[in-house]
Amino acid sequence: MLARTEKNLQIIQKWIKNDFPNAEIFYSPVDIKNEKQVIDFVASLPSDKTIEWVQCVGLGGGTVTVKDDNPYITIENISPELVEAEVTVLKDTVAFLQKLLPIFKKQKETRVVIVSSMSAVRSVPGGAIHNAAKGAISRFANAAMIELGKNNIFITDVRPGGVDTGMYDTKAVQESIKPMAVSYGYDWSDENGGLRLAPPSSVGKAIAAILSSEAHITSLNLVARGQWPHEGS
Ligand SMILES: NC(=O)c1ccc[n+]([C@@H]2O[C@H](COP(=O)([O-])OP(=O)(O)OC[C@H]3O[C@@H](n4cnc5c(N)ncnc54)[C@H](OP(=O)(O)O)[C@@H]3O)[C@@H](O)[C@H]2O)c1
Repeated sequence: MLARTEKNLQIIQKWIKNDFPNAEIFYSPVDIKNEKQVIDFVASLPSDKTIEWVQCVGLGGGTVTVKDDNPYITIENISPELVEAEVTVLKDTVAFLQKLLPIFKKQKETRVVIVSSMSAVRSVPGGAIHNAAKGAISRFANAAMIELGKNNIFITDVRPGGVDTGMYDTKAVQESIKPMAVSYGYDWSDENGGLRLAPPSSVGKAIAAILSSEAHITSLNLVARGQWPHEGS
């Protein structure tokens, strides 16, 4: 596991160890924007094990300041900093894959999962720049899977809808999501049960299924039950 904040990695390691005491879980606090840290991390990977890669890096809280921590904003209010921050997820993914490729090309077979988002294929009002950035990473995943499939590097694009990882906790975000559901004919009023978000474990289970499949699953869309399942809008 790789992220910048060591204490969070420790917490997740502990959670997994509680359920799977024999699991060998290691983490490295690495900033994937820091080329030296990435090079050192890749050099530290064991050479006697097959390396597979699940990429679900996001902006992380606080990377860019948006009013009320609400990333759903109208076009007039999109700042150049937000555009830059959204696009860095693509840049960082490309750079990290480039560093791993020499290892992947030597392996008999490699599986890679890139978590993009339903936002890649399901546009929403207020989501213009987020939809654009996720569309870019999703297309990158598809082009890369075509280019690298002949090297037995099998990439999967996973597109979750809204997942309960904390970004929908504030009232401001919840209020900007509800009209999106309404525009697709879904009633997410409090009286009707409020937001429908998938549990993070549902994304993990989908990734486990992809990694253990005999086939190359090219892409997978998932939304919480009761979240509008619109594809390709
Ligand atoms: N939550 C949703 O509803 C949802 C739905 C669809 C798709 N997604 C996508 O799924 C991915 C994960 O979502 P999330 O909600 O868990 O996002 P998140 O809270 O932004 O988490 C992103 C992860 O990336 C790490 N990270 C950020 N910058 C990093 C850097 N420079 N170097 C290393 N690690 C870095 C963060 O840890 P540190 O901050 O400690 O580095 C954190 O572990 C994102 O790409 C998101 O857009 C999320």
